[in-house]
Amino acid sequence: MLSKAKELLEETMAFKAKSLEEVESFRIKLLGNKGELKKLFAEFRNVAVEEKKEFGSILNQLKEKAQEKVEQLKAEFNSSQEKTTSNEDYTRPTNLNGIGSRHPIPIIKNEIIDIFNRIGFQISEGPEIEDDWHNFSALNFPPEHPARDMQDTFFVEKDPDITLRTHTSSVQVRVMENSTPPIRTISPGRVYRNEAISARAHCFFHQVEGLYIDKNVSFADLRQTLLYFAQEMFGKETKIRLRPSYFPFTEPSAEMDVSCTICSGKGCNVCKYTGYLEILGCGMVDPNVLDNCGIDSKVYSGFAFGMGVERIAQLKFNVNDLRLYSENDKAFLDQFKSAL
Ligand code: DAH
Repeated sequence: MLSKAKELLEETMAFKAKSLEEVESFRIKLLGNKGELKKLFAEFRNVAVEEKKEFGSILNQLKEKAQEKVEQLKAEFNSSQEKTTSNEDYTRPTNLNGIGSRHPIPIIKNEIIDIFNRIGFQISEGPEIEDDWHNFSALNFPPEHPARDMQDTFFVEKDPDITLRTHTSSVQVRVMENSTPPIRTISPGRVYRNEAISARAHCFFHQVEGLYIDKNVSFADLRQTLLYFAQEMFGKETKIRLRPSYFPFTEPSAEMDVSCTICSGKGCNVCKYTGYLEILGCGMVDPNVLDNCGIDSKVYSGFAFGMGVERIAQLKFNVNDLRLYSENDKAFLDQFKSAL
């Protein structure tokens, strides 16, 4: 009996628990109603007289140590549990997806719209699925005219009259057909061309078309309007340059360049050492187009222009690969958060 009591005392001193449950079963085993200690106390009267003293003292020690141990371990487990509970804030936002941001194309499109709104241009929109008349014929591209080759068009096989619009110039036809001058409008939208996808070309992109029709509109008005736009978009010190060009729907026609946004015209590899970057096409609306759309070309004149939104975004944000705009790469898109 004495040796059993000594063994239990040693066991108690050395006892370690991994959980509260283990502490509890230890307590029941030793201190419980049917526990070891009860049994040993019951044995007390059977112990030889000369051992009674030592046995009694060991039992008392065992009881005391076991109780101490149970209290100590319970306290330890409870306090560590409290700690985990108090450190957790279950109300905190999970924020797994982060906050979204605007795509660079609408950011630039809105900036273009804002600039032209300030000088009285209103917004008009048209369908992306167009007919031949609005996309080509009314704009002075006669059937079989080689100018149609300038734009690789998606036609619908069953009905060659239906196309995905190749430019937003189709919207200027719709506006002229449905309103009387003065007209001052811009038409933002998506356009489609049958191009192999590469860093510099895509099968769809975005344009903003502009149209101004009134009495006595001159090329000087065109130049001044586009200069205002360029300086608002790229900075007050921006210069513009108009180079003669050709479009079936304008006469005369021009390409407009802006002084290089990187080197301010000094010459660098972005502007290929020319000091200028091409950004849009423009011209005086061809009298045939005015007449096609029911506007008397003897009374009215006007100018038009069209620009690619991706091109402006490329210059503003220094993006060299067109494909990035439609790949939904979050790392790319996250960079425009501050441009909102
Ligand atoms: N539609 C032309 C294109 O997609 C751009 C353009 C050039 C529009 C001259 C115009 C313009 O209104 O006058 O390439």
